[in-house]
Amino acid sequence: MKAINVDFAKTEKYAPETQYLQAKENVLSAFKTLTEKTGAGAEFTGWVDLPVAYDKEEVARIKKCAEKIRKDSDVLVVCGIGGSYLGAAAALDFLKGGMYNFKTDGGPQIFFAGNNMSSSYIMDVLDRLEGKDFSVNVISKSGTTMETSIAFRIFKKALEDKYGKEEAARRIYATTDKQRGALKQLADSEGYEEFVVPDDIGGRFSVLTAVGLLPIAVAGGDLDELFAGAQAMREYALNTKFEENVVLRYAWTRQKLYGMGKDIEIFANYEPDLRNIGEWLKQLFGESEGKDGMGIFPASVSLTTDLHSMGQLIQDGKRNIFETIIFVENALRDVEIPEFDEDFDGYKYLEHLPVGALNLAAFVGTSDAHEAGNVPQIAIGMEDRSEANLGQLFYFFEFVCGISAYIEGVNPFNQPGVEEYKKNIRKILAEK
Ligand code: PA5
Repeated sequence: MKAINVDFAKTEKYAPETQYLQAKENVLSAFKTLTEKTGAGAEFTGWVDLPVAYDKEEVARIKKCAEKIRKDSDVLVVCGIGGSYLGAAAALDFLKGGMYNFKTDGGPQIFFAGNNMSSSYIMDVLDRLEGKDFSVNVISKSGTTMETSIAFRIFKKALEDKYGKEEAARRIYATTDKQRGALKQLADSEGYEEFVVPDDIGGRFSVLTAVGLLPIAVAGGDLDELFAGAQAMREYALNTKFEENVVLRYAWTRQKLYGMGKDIEIFANYEPDLRNIGEWLKQLFGESEGKDGMGIFPASVSLTTDLHSMGQLIQDGKRNIFETIIFVENALRDVEIPEFDEDFDGYKYLEHLPVGALNLAAFVGTSDAHEAGNVPQIAIGMEDRSEANLGQLFYFFEFVCGISAYIEGVNPFNQPGVEEYKKNIRKILAEK
């Protein structure tokens, strides 16, 4: 399997390899803390071995259920928020394209709900179910997250109104804790098909559990290939010597740049279909590192689109940013620029070129411009948008995040700050 490629040429001026080599003790200490499970939050490091230790029986059941949903449903509604939604949304766009729901040759349409409090959004999803057969995958580790619970109530009611209680129960798939929580109790009592979010894996590290796997399989994603990619990256991260290990070097580079005042990391991509990879990354790094008064602020841009909105700031604004660019060499499909007799816009010289070649030129040109504008850049390249590359990418960033947070000195696996807003909402609603 061809590994994803990580290029540090444009960080060398700021975080040189010689300094990385000198930081060996510090980086390897973070590596040992993560892999020997001795650090803060160690009880949530089940994802480190997940690519090889995953529950094979459950994955077989996920594939069977996905087949059933593909046969008996035109639409799957996935209710979940944060780590219980972003990975699947990112994977679907990456593998099948953001236009997946408009395609007629794929599996059921997949709509995500329960990731906001917007009634308009819920109504729009309900409208999409008119006259269609549908199923619901409700995903919540805690089983008590308000956004997810409220949406689930609404879609459970829609199912029961259409099919009656018994058939509705056969169309609800609950992904939740093995033992605890309101959703677990409901699933047991109503007889839903159940999948587990393992105790030792937190939401934002759960994309390779049933949380991500069921929606991915329903869309026709190849789970074996996804695991093969994650396994290859795990093997690489764990067993490549320090001097050559780009996972460790990237984790160190991020913290080195942060120490130099570069406290915003912009995840940039050149495919609109990778926007949700950016969203997944924002949660992964933001919730893992943003605590105790510290943390790199993770942002994302989709280029070249956002060059027309954020380009000015990146090129020329405050120099507290660095970029991590994800570039896919081969588009899912390419298209050639057509020929005309006249040169009405001055672009005749581009006729017959594939648009993909222009995108590559845009990447190289933009990257050089940002280098001239003193933006350190890490470039992550891959050949195509295969399941194997996605598996590599997910595991790569999870591992980087664990190491980087331990170098920073925080517990990567808790999120105490997320509770504050929830308490306030409950208080306001209790007063009603
Ligand atoms: O990473 C996390 O732990 C969070 O983002 C959760 O995934 C999110 O809050 C949803 O929680 P739950 O799955 O319990 O509904």
